[in-house]
Amino acid sequence: MTKTSTTIGADWGYAPAPESADHFQLKDHYGLFIGGKFVPAVSGKRFKTINPANEKVIAEVADGGEKDVDKAVKAARTAFDKVWRKMSGRERGKYLYRIARIIQERARELAVVESMDGGKPIRESRDVDIPLAAAHFFYHAGWADKLGYAFPGKSVSPIGVAGQIIPWNFPLLMVAWKVAPALACGNTVVLKPAETTPLTALLFAEICQEAGLPEGVFNLVTGAGATGAALVNHPGLDKVAFTGSTEVGKAIQRSLAGRGTKLTLELGGKAAHIIFEDATIDQAVEGIINGIYFNQGHVCCAGSRLLVQESVEEEVVTKLKARMESLIVGDPLDKNTDIGAINSKAQCDRIRDYLKIGEEEGAELFQTQCSVPEKGYWIRPSFFTKVAQSHRIVQEEIFGPVLAIQTFRTLNEALEKANNTPYGLSGGVWTDKGAKIFKVTRGIRAGVIWANTFNKFDPTSPFGGYKESGYGREGGRHGLRPYVELS
Ligand code: NAI
Ligand code: MG
Repeated sequence: MTKTSTTIGADWGYAPAPESADHFQLKDHYGLFIGGKFVPAVSGKRFKTINPANEKVIAEVADGGEKDVDKAVKAARTAFDKVWRKMSGRERGKYLYRIARIIQERARELAVVESMDGGKPIRESRDVDIPLAAAHFFYHAGWADKLGYAFPGKSVSPIGVAGQIIPWNFPLLMVAWKVAPALACGNTVVLKPAETTPLTALLFAEICQEAGLPEGVFNLVTGAGATGAALVNHPGLDKVAFTGSTEVGKAIQRSLAGRGTKLTLELGGKAAHIIFEDATIDQAVEGIINGIYFNQGHVCCAGSRLLVQESVEEEVVTKLKARMESLIVGDPLDKNTDIGAINSKAQCDRIRDYLKIGEEEGAELFQTQCSVPEKGYWIRPSFFTKVAQSHRIVQEEIFGPVLAIQTFRTLNEALEKANNTPYGLSGGVWTDKGAKIFKVTRGIRAGVIWANTFNKFDPTSPFGGYKESGYGREGGRHGLRPYVELS
């Protein structure tokens, strides 16, 4: 082609816009945080945490065992008895406010580390995870001296020492969901973060030091599943809170049976996202994208099953494909990236297995054409059509950027399909009609149902599930209940 003065270059792609990682310094290795100090594991063992976008080691982290868990639980017990339970709610609240403010001050560092350690796009860690983590501390700081108003007519006291185990999909946000209500209500904590994403929890421990939180109120024991099991099995806990897979949730329930330790579980999901023919289709398509491709689909409340009314199926699927082709998959630290790296090789393999299972079951796979980096763990945005309710890709949580698309004709058929899984965590509905919204939100058995939006979170709003999605609520006044004794 001859170049003329009116020819504009053919490449309309985005230029790279990487967030820099030179405004903070991570350590080569991190200890456990017990009794207000960083200490090595008794065994001296460590494990590596890697960046799933390039498979490079970021840091080494102490691998906590039974003895470390025991030290941490004892430190939490001492802090509970001697300091934290005796402190007024007003004083406790001051520490929580301080933590919230330091999270805000260190937001940029926390966002970059979150994206490096876990693979999520910087846009999400910067605009969702970290601000919401701070918001959870602000919100609960406000409750610390007002618990009497949360439970009128009751006398409120803390439970004691909480053992908390969190997953890798929202590492710092899950720290906040777990730790903020526990501390606000006067409990002390031993937390175990996920083995692939321990770094922001470790930075959170530094923040607790910086805030002058009394030693032993918050303790952190890093490690894998065995460390989590050691924590659950420690007889010194008054309460266990777990977010993760349904399988491990059930195992925890079994090991706590008969012990009188309180338990809340936030497990998997397989949410139905229902699009009626009277919905604003362009907005609904954005909702579908946000519902399943946000955070690579590593979201327990993801809208992983699309139920679309038959009359608009073609329009929705055509528009969805076009929109999906515009999604940028790649470097999590690039500000243009829509979809980052899959959190770990294990999770990437699991998702690939489901892609194979879906095809073997007879469903039709669509994947976008985008390029992905050579190193690291990646899955292109994907969906299946021609799926049956009995297919494993409809019944089981995939926890990746993979949507299953089904159709329905009547509202009742949509509800029946929506409820026909072992899970009950979330749901979504798009329609122009308020009456349909009420009918659907009452008809789906799930903890949270979004109408004409999806994946909206707020610390004032309780979150949790039914059926195999677990029990207990986090956030809002309901979320305080698992952390208090009432009399
Ligand atoms: P997982 O349930 O094994 O991991 C979650 C946390 O539990 C981690 O901190 C882990 O170290 C800990 N853990 C593992 N085994 C334990 C045990 N026996 N006792 C105590 N703690 C233990 O989940 P995983 O293997 O990483 O992911 C598998 C699937 O689980 C995913 O594909 C997804 O479907 C689901 N999942 C759901 C999550 C949710 O938010 N609901 C979060 C993470 C995973
Ligand atoms: Mg990592």
